[in-house]
Amino acid sequence: MLELKNVHKSYTLGGGLSLFGKETVKVADQICLTIEQGRCHGLVGESGSGKSTLGKMILGLEQPDRGEIWFEGKNMLTLSGRERKRMRRKIQTVFQDCYSSLNPRWPVYESVREPLNNFERLSAGEEKKTVRELFAAVGLQPEDITKYPHQFSGGQLQRISIARAIALKPKLIVLDEAVSSLDMLIQHQILQLLDELKTQYQLSYLFISHDLMAVRSISDQLSVMHQGRIVETLDGGDPLSSMKHPVSKQLVASILPSQPRNRSKPGLTEAV
Ligand SMILES: Nc1ncnc2c1ncn2[C@@H]1O[C@H](COP(=O)(O)OP(=O)(O)OP(=O)(O)O)[C@@H](O)[C@H]1O
Ligand SMILES: [Mg+2]
Repeated sequence: MLELKNVHKSYTLGGGLSLFGKETVKVADQICLTIEQGRCHGLVGESGSGKSTLGKMILGLEQPDRGEIWFEGKNMLTLSGRERKRMRRKIQTVFQDCYSSLNPRWPVYESVREPLNNFERLSAGEEKKTVRELFAAVGLQPEDITKYPHQFSGGQLQRISIARAIALKPKLIVLDEAVSSLDMLIQHQILQLLDELKTQYQLSYLFISHDLMAVRSISDQLSVMHQGRIVETLDGGDPLSSMKHPVSKQLVASILPSQPRNRSKPGLTEAV
């Protein structure tokens, strides 16, 4: 459904003119990645490895320097403005910072109805009914639509961001560190909700996180990114035992055991 072919992206550092030329940093280097319909592709890697930039290119928020991004049989980079807008509604996002998608001065109803208002011609009554249904779908009370963002917990706010992301019935959602700021229990609940919605709405996900355990728990496929490159992609099986690349192994080694009792003694390495 989505295919990235040989995507490259560099940023020029510093800006302005320099006698010594400009320094560039490669954030996407020969990226090839496929996401199949109804599947979750996890993208894991250390901070600064280029995960968010890759997500932004898929969302059309950043342009690659080279390469192709195919979505439902069309190269997104060669579409006309109108076609691109039509395709864009099929790709939505949920960020770590829910406040960026929810206006603190609006009741949350206004934030969730915004994409509907932009893309669909619904009457006020239909719009309200749809938003109430979306709230129920993400495990919130339909009456909550009149509340303001500060009246919700972090987990509830993330549910509202998800409601907003699924409002236009997208095909693909880019989830960038969507559960990273939540405590373990809430993280688990949101991951479960995402998994249920994936089946219910036949969604595909690009699930970006630096947290290998979160990525592992939801993904059907998993890619490891390092310095702008995908160094390893795993399809099926347990990534913890099948990862081969040294960078991937380093990620695995950095995970603390969930049971403090199993923590390795100084000088011993934990067998994962
Ligand atoms: N607009 C920009 N201009 C210049 N450099 C940028 C820009 N955006 C990102 N970068 C650089 O590109 C690299 C990759 O950034 P990116 O945000 O994609 O990493 P990431 O893997 O998402 O990291 P994190 O896990 O911390 O979110 C970083 O070195 C970052 O400083
Ligand atoms: Mg990031």
